[in-house]
Amino acid sequence: MTRRIAWLNEKGGSGKSTSALNLSANLASQFGQRVLLIDVGHQANISAVLGGDQVAKHTLTDVLMHDVPAGEAILPTRYPNLHLLPADAALSEVNVAMADSAGRLGIGRELRLKRALQGIERDYEFVVVDTGPQRTLLNVNVLNYVDDVFVPIDPGYWSLLGVKRLEELVGQIREHLGHQTLRIGGVLLTKVQPTNVARQVERQVREYFGPLNVKVEEAHSRGLSVLDYAPESAGAKAYLALAKEVLFSKTHDNG
Ligand SMILES: Nc1ncnc2c1ncn2[C@@H]1O[C@H](COP(=O)(O)OP(=O)(O)OP(=O)(O)O)[C@@H](O)[C@H]1O
Ligand SMILES: [Mg+2]
Repeated sequence: MTRRIAWLNEKGGSGKSTSALNLSANLASQFGQRVLLIDVGHQANISAVLGGDQVAKHTLTDVLMHDVPAGEAILPTRYPNLHLLPADAALSEVNVAMADSAGRLGIGRELRLKRALQGIERDYEFVVVDTGPQRTLLNVNVLNYVDDVFVPIDPGYWSLLGVKRLEELVGQIREHLGHQTLRIGGVLLTKVQPTNVARQVERQVREYFGPLNVKVEEAHSRGLSVLDYAPESAGAKAYLALAKEVLFSKTHDNG
């Protein structure tokens, strides 16, 4: 069975794209899992890192707006088991097009992503979704599609407020869209620095430890996961531990 995971936090710069990229690359390259990484950010950050020099013929925008089959937009990456469904700047137009509930893209608007992926997800053990920072119809589509929401937390006084807002949103999707199995699957502390605020948030969140690590950021410029770029760094070890945990929980859930 395919496990579907979205990285979500309405706070910008909290580490969604970095975490989606490194989790996907580790699951694919270290654990031989077939992974589809979907870029649902109009900044297309992941597409820029993983797409390399490839020019995408189609993007998620075409899939959602112009009925292009998802399989035609998916690209290979430098990691043999990892495929990418890329984004482009026009993705934000999808939100506008869906805004009119009686318009062409308005009808069934919360289900558009789920429908578009139905035919291809069986080819993958994991689908990992990177999202943009705002509350948008696209992100509602993502929530309606995935099983697990992972929240990257960049420690600060407002971080926990963001998590609470997200919990409310997950509750609304469960209640109003009938997606009862949706859950917050975990939180990941990112960019942790040795400050009192970080220590306090860390105590409150008491979860994984994802250190601030310069190698994590440098890896993006080389188009690599941090594990390939700097395997001995703290960031690489943290994301490897996360991939193990995610894989273990999938095996466990499947009995
Ligand atoms: N553990 C880390 N150590 C060092 N730098 C990091 C770490 N995690 C993320 N970064 C850097 O922090 C910045 C923000 O991270 P990222 O782009 O992943 O956040 P985001 O939540 O996807 O942002 P947005 O909301 O804009 O989509 C990036 O420059 C990234 O390289
Ligand atoms: Mg991002």
